Amino acid sequence: MATAKKVYVKTFGCQMNVYDSERITEALGADGYAATEDADGADLIVLNTCHIREKAVEKVYSELGRIRQIKDQRRASDQHTLVAVAGCVAQAEGAEIVRRAPVVDVVVGPSVYHRLPELLRKAGGGQRAVVETEFPEEDKFARLPDRSGSRAAAAFLTVQEGCDKFCTFCVVPYTRGTEASRPVAHLVAEAERLVARGVRELTLLGQNVNAYHGRGEDGTVWSLARLITRLSEIDGLERLRYMTSHPRDMSADLIAAHRDIPKLMPCLHLPFQAGSDRVLAGMNRKHTIGEYVDLVHRIREARPDIALSTDVIVGFPGETDSEFEATLDIVRSVGFAQAYSFKYSPRPGTPASIMSDQVSEAVKSERLQRLQELLDDQQSSFNSGCVGRVMPVLFERAGRRAGQIVGRSPYLQPVHAEADDGLVGRVIEVAISAAGPYSLTGIVQTARAGQVA
Ligand code: 5AD
Ligand code: SF4
Repeated sequence: MATAKKVYVKTFGCQMNVYDSERITEALGADGYAATEDADGADLIVLNTCHIREKAVEKVYSELGRIRQIKDQRRASDQHTLVAVAGCVAQAEGAEIVRRAPVVDVVVGPSVYHRLPELLRKAGGGQRAVVETEFPEEDKFARLPDRSGSRAAAAFLTVQEGCDKFCTFCVVPYTRGTEASRPVAHLVAEAERLVARGVRELTLLGQNVNAYHGRGEDGTVWSLARLITRLSEIDGLERLRYMTSHPRDMSADLIAAHRDIPKLMPCLHLPFQAGSDRVLAGMNRKHTIGEYVDLVHRIREARPDIALSTDVIVGFPGETDSEFEATLDIVRSVGFAQAYSFKYSPRPGTPASIMSDQVSEAVKSERLQRLQELLDDQQSSFNSGCVGRVMPVLFERAGRRAGQIVGRSPYLQPVHAEADDGLVGRVIEVAISAAGPYSLTGIVQTARAGQVA
């Protein structure tokens, strides 16, 4: 019997890429490739790439350097390795990737990865490089095989792709294209299949997820809130989350969903990017700081315990010391359970990259450090505030230590507990006994565990 060809998929960047990598692996599975974790033994290596900041791009090129060595070594023993670059670097750089890294056989953008098996055949075992970065009319999701692999308790579900906001620092509108929402019926079907395989929590993904406006089951356009309501009716699905949201698209029905839908977890990722209105205008964020703060009030009125997380950029062109202080002020006044913070990174082709008053690297580093200290403090105090509480935890996997399992709280914190791994895949009440900077430890409540065990 012929052994299956092996594919190694490495993912860079955001959760949307994690989701895409799963779908790529499945598409290749239908084409005879078995997934492997071992790059050295792979017949095909796929890098699913991220273009959001310069560092993310550098990582891809240095990985391609390592892959060239693997390819050479394998060639010496008469084994062939195909190399494909997928994702946002593929979209943004296209044929330039093959010029800079001739080891690459196929370049495939995020809108066309369903064609990867066909493109690999076109590459003729590495005879010629193939570049495919169109934004086609066809719906790639409708052309991919049904999701098969996932046995995890928590899964991603991409509901929307692309972005029409054109923040001046961001490549997403160029690499992922304009906004497109998947039809509700397709999403319900995909969600039901996942739940039938044991998934208990779904995170709905989109670059601008709360701009979702998909075709509903009744033929009208549905909002994200309506989609969430519909998905929450699926038996066996216990939790829903969504990310990433734009403040401008945080509609009243979505805020109300946080009050009304118990399965919707009390968590919201809501980037504010910068604390000064002048900088926000330069970023083309389409909201002021006052509007952001007011929105936070309305969300907390609907769901007082909501854990907010955010994205922040320091050193956007022209940002002064006092404008940076305004960013710290907003962090202090809003209070975040978790956050991602970045130094502004000029991206080719974006308006901000050619603004004249770029901030020096030294200033950006110093600002980032101060911001991160504050954010770390807030995260630690949010976590310590959970000690003594009992909360439902969805256990997702065995822990690193024997006898330990790990899950997520409603607020997305990792929770460790000593318990039988038979509890993986279940939501169990846990008394939180200790908090670290990034995770919690708790004791499984035996009464409830006894009921479900
Ligand atoms: N430089 C720094 N950070 C960026 N982000 C997006 N583009 C850039 C850039 N050019 C950050 C934003 C966004 C997150 C996904 O990445 O904060 O919300
Ligand atoms: Fe990029 Fe988000 Fe702005 Fe869209 S809303 S351009 S994805 S930062």
